[in-house]
Amino acid sequence: MKVLILNGPNINFLGIREPEIYGKTTYEDMLKIIGEYADKQEIEVSFYQSNHEGDLVDAIQRAYFDKIDGIVINPAAYTHTSIAILDALKAVGIVTVEVHLSAVEKREDFRQISYVSKYASKTITGQGVNGYLMALDYLKESKK
Ligand code: DQA
Repeated sequence: MKVLILNGPNINFLGIREPEIYGKTTYEDMLKIIGEYADKQEIEVSFYQSNHEGDLVDAIQRAYFDKIDGIVINPAAYTHTSIAILDALKAVGIVTVEVHLSAVEKREDFRQISYVSKYASKTITGQGVNGYLMALDYLKESKK
C-alpha cells in the first residue's frame, strides 16, 4: 500500500518551533521515525512538506495520478482556514487521516475549526510524532 505523508506550514521547523508544544524531535528525525515504522509495516511512504497552500493542493492532486492508497495530513495552520485543501481531498477521494502533534482541542478558539475534519475518516491529536504512526495503522487496517 502507498501512503503520502503531507505536512503544512512550519512543520519543517519541528524541534525549533515552540518545543514546549510540539516537542524536540526535528522534522528530519520525524521522517526517519515514520519511514522506519512504515518499512516494518510494509507500507510504501512518500513525504511532502510545504509552507504554501497551493503546493499542498497540487500534492493532493498528484496523489490521484500516483495511485496513492491513503493520505496522512497535518495541514498545520491551514487546518483552520483552507477550503482549498478540503476540496482537493474531496476531489481525489483518497482515504485520509488528519494528524495534529498538539492537542488542538485544548488550545485557542481559532484552532477549534478544522475544515479537513469534514473529509478525514479519522483525526488524531495530541500524540506527537506517534500520531503519524497511529494514522498508518489505521490506514493499513482500513485497507484489509
Ligand atoms: C498543528 C496545530 C495547528 O493549530 C498549528 O497551526 C500547527 C500545528 C499541530 O500539529 O498540532 O502548525 O497542526
